[in-house]
Amino acid sequence: MSEFPLDLPLRPRRNRKSAGVRALTRETRLSPDQLILPMFLHEDKNDQALESMPGCTRWSLDGMLREAEGALEEGVRAVVLFPKVEESDKSRTGEASFDDQGLIPKALRRLKKELPELVLITDVALDPYNSDGHDGILNDDGRILNDETVDVLVKQALMQAAAGADIISPSDMMDGRVGAIRDGLDFAGHTDVSILAYTAKYASAFYGPFRGALDSAPKNGDKKTYQMDPANAREALRELALDEMEGADMVMVKPAGPYLDVILRLREGTTLPIAAYQVSGEYLALKAASAGGWLNEKAAVLESLTGITRAGADMILTYFARDAARWLREDR
Ligand code: PBG
Repeated sequence: MSEFPLDLPLRPRRNRKSAGVRALTRETRLSPDQLILPMFLHEDKNDQALESMPGCTRWSLDGMLREAEGALEEGVRAVVLFPKVEESDKSRTGEASFDDQGLIPKALRRLKKELPELVLITDVALDPYNSDGHDGILNDDGRILNDETVDVLVKQALMQAAAGADIISPSDMMDGRVGAIRDGLDFAGHTDVSILAYTAKYASAFYGPFRGALDSAPKNGDKKTYQMDPANAREALRELALDEMEGADMVMVKPAGPYLDVILRLREGTTLPIAAYQVSGEYLALKAASAGGWLNEKAAVLESLTGITRAGADMILTYFARDAARWLREDR
């Protein structure tokens, strides 16, 4: 007996008393079904482990196929592809982005043929193809030309759809691109190809390692005239309204962990499925702390993914997709 007996009919701890009761009362469940694996590709016969992103690889087409097959076996049903483009194929206007003999269309045709059930997502933006390292075309004063860029993005999306993309994902943040891509796809007969819009993509410091992996960092300036100010959340709702009107099938918040409030606001503001991108810097922060022995990697990663899901994300793009799928199965 306690020294000072409490008269306490309401005891929340009863719902935490055993693993079985905790499982019954759990509000958020993670599943491999919701995970999307980002994959880096290059024109090279060899796979290359990325020093700047330990645990990640830049894949050859053969390596990509094995990796995607492994992911699928572990329960990850979707991948998103990012190319590293040779400097000699880059230009100020990014023509290589819609070349149907490029790396991405080759990868799409191969994956579609060999793994028809895998969901293929492609990134639409010019930064890997643009000699200036920006998502859009620059004029001579260094300003991004919105409407001229959208023209090229539509061509890129059409090429990707023809090569087998299931979901087209514009990450460039130009105004009006979702509607233009939807019109373009429909006009070309690709009415079944979906658009996952990067609705609230922030000008984030957490993209650094990704730009290293693709050699796609801006040569000059930053991306603040198109990516959103990290201080803004209401503005995400404005982007949401436009993307919905323009025909997006799914919307995205990126990065994920530092923007859980934005995920929640979108959740409350839309019936569309929401994706969140746990980006390269978030991955590395967890990876480095785990490698240092300061965090338990499995527990910390699953907690981070649970938080993103609890905030309202239906899908998560994460470099931990394969690990997480395996860990979730282990815990069964
Ligand atoms: C570019 C793009 C970026 C990422 C995905 N698509 C980088 C950027 O906007 O500079 C970042 C992903 C990551 O950091 O993991 N369109």
